Amino acid sequence: MIIRFLLDGSSTEIDVEPGTTLLEALRSVGATSVKDGCSHGDCGTCAVLVDGRAVAACLLFAAQVDGSSIETVAGMAGDEGLHPLQSALLDAGAVQCGFCTPGILLTALELLKNNPKPNELEVRQALAGNLCRCTGYVKIIEGVLLGADRLAGAEGGS
Ligand code: FES
Ligand code: FES
Repeated sequence: MIIRFLLDGSSTEIDVEPGTTLLEALRSVGATSVKDGCSHGDCGTCAVLVDGRAVAACLLFAAQVDGSSIETVAGMAGDEGLHPLQSALLDAGAVQCGFCTPGILLTALELLKNNPKPNELEVRQALAGNLCRCTGYVKIIEGVLLGADRLAGAEGGS
């Protein structure tokens, strides 16, 4: 079946089998920032935004996103460079690996859209489904809080 959606703002059309997951479909069209860490909804490495909502791409069938807008980490940076949340994680030393970071960024982005000034507990709760299997969460939490401050400052200054 043919499905069509926006992928980071670009019209995308894929011919998929009915059982193809969104994760498989995205990677098949080159969206390899979307990682397969478990295939079962347990780790958050495959998180993408579907119409602004963070979802595990391994748990959705591709057919379910027909007509949707999908954002991956590859679409976060703009013409002026990294998204402020990306810069904040970098500056906080929170970009620990390429496997967990994309999902963390997208999940945090959804959080900050809904709750621009979260406290530490709220950040921890939002990221509870994004596992780091190797390093830890302290710098990640600091990075998201820094990103929230910067985004709030940018909006306040405009
Ligand atoms: S690969 Fe989807 S949650 Fe782990
Ligand atoms: S899994 Fe990415 S830093 Fe631990």
